[in-house]
Amino acid sequence: MRISGIGSAVPRQIVTNEMLSSFLDTSDEWITTRTGIKQRRVITEEKFEQLAVEAARKAIADAGLTPDSIELIVCSTTTSPFITPSLACIVRESLQIPSPAMDLNGACAGFLYALDAADAYIKSKKAKTILLISADNMSRIVDWTDRRTCVLFGDAAAAVVLTDAGDDFRAILLRTEDNGTCLLAKNSSGNSPFIKEKTEPIALQMEGQKVFKHAVASAQADISKVLKLAGIAKEKINHFLLHQANIRIIDFIRKTLGLPENKFNHNIERYGNTSSASIPLLMDELYHAGQLRRGDMLLLNAFGAGFVSGACVLEWNK
Ligand code: COA
Repeated sequence: MRISGIGSAVPRQIVTNEMLSSFLDTSDEWITTRTGIKQRRVITEEKFEQLAVEAARKAIADAGLTPDSIELIVCSTTTSPFITPSLACIVRESLQIPSPAMDLNGACAGFLYALDAADAYIKSKKAKTILLISADNMSRIVDWTDRRTCVLFGDAAAAVVLTDAGDDFRAILLRTEDNGTCLLAKNSSGNSPFIKEKTEPIALQMEGQKVFKHAVASAQADISKVLKLAGIAKEKINHFLLHQANIRIIDFIRKTLGLPENKFNHNIERYGNTSSASIPLLMDELYHAGQLRRGDMLLLNAFGAGFVSGACVLEWNK
């Protein structure tokens, strides 16, 4: 499998930490020192699905392809406003892609989960060209009166086109562990007359410190395991693209590995945690900034609610 095209789209509205402190008991100082986030993008007038479509259109064009050459669409999202049709079906209709389409819920590690699924399709020769979109609309599911969660997230979409033009993925691993009540959001119970105990929807709630500890532990374990699986030394990795959840988590991992800062690019300061869009959004920025060279080795690592996590090592050959 090879990444043959990449694109992303973010909402126009920038929401700074100062803007949040106008209606929440928080401050730029607290958010910056605890998370590294300075601002995030939040959907206002645009539609979430338009962002997904825009990212997909850019990725297909970047691959030098047309929509009719896509054989499968996989969309990783946890926050689409649509329960049905799937976000992948909406993108399909909008871009007139004549292929099957499905969504996958891998929370913040969704990009890794979708890559693994795409890899299986390509290896089994069920598809040669796959559109993978990671899009999340976190501003819809957080409680904007809860300073412990809403300051952390942002909205974004990013997409890649995966083809069988090369054998660039050296290893992909996925892991799932018990989540408990650490990180959850819930729909309402609906109005079924057969349910006695009605429940209201629950906005995203999180036990920050437990999630922090879990994130660090899973990242350390996954990175060490994926390096072994790929048979590559950590020093040979040119870029570590880690889930953009907290700069302190990224720094901790970097220090444990004993590697220089320039291998750990980040954009959390500008976008916050964009859930499954986080890694492909960073990858798209690095690519367009000319920082990814053919032959570079990349290590991707993400974790999220579930708890899910995953990592992969790939050679960049776009
Ligand atoms: N502004 C100001 N104060 C805040 C705040 C905010 N936005 N959010 C929380 N606080 C307060 C708390 O109420 C608490 O006050 P108290 O001591 O009076 O009770 C204090 O700050 C410390 O809170 P705590 O939760 O211990 O802070 P922390 O150092 O653990 O940082 C997180 C909180 C959420 C930034 C951190 O735990 C974290 O990043 N966790 C991982 C989250 C994550 O990665 N989630 C995504 C998974 S995909």
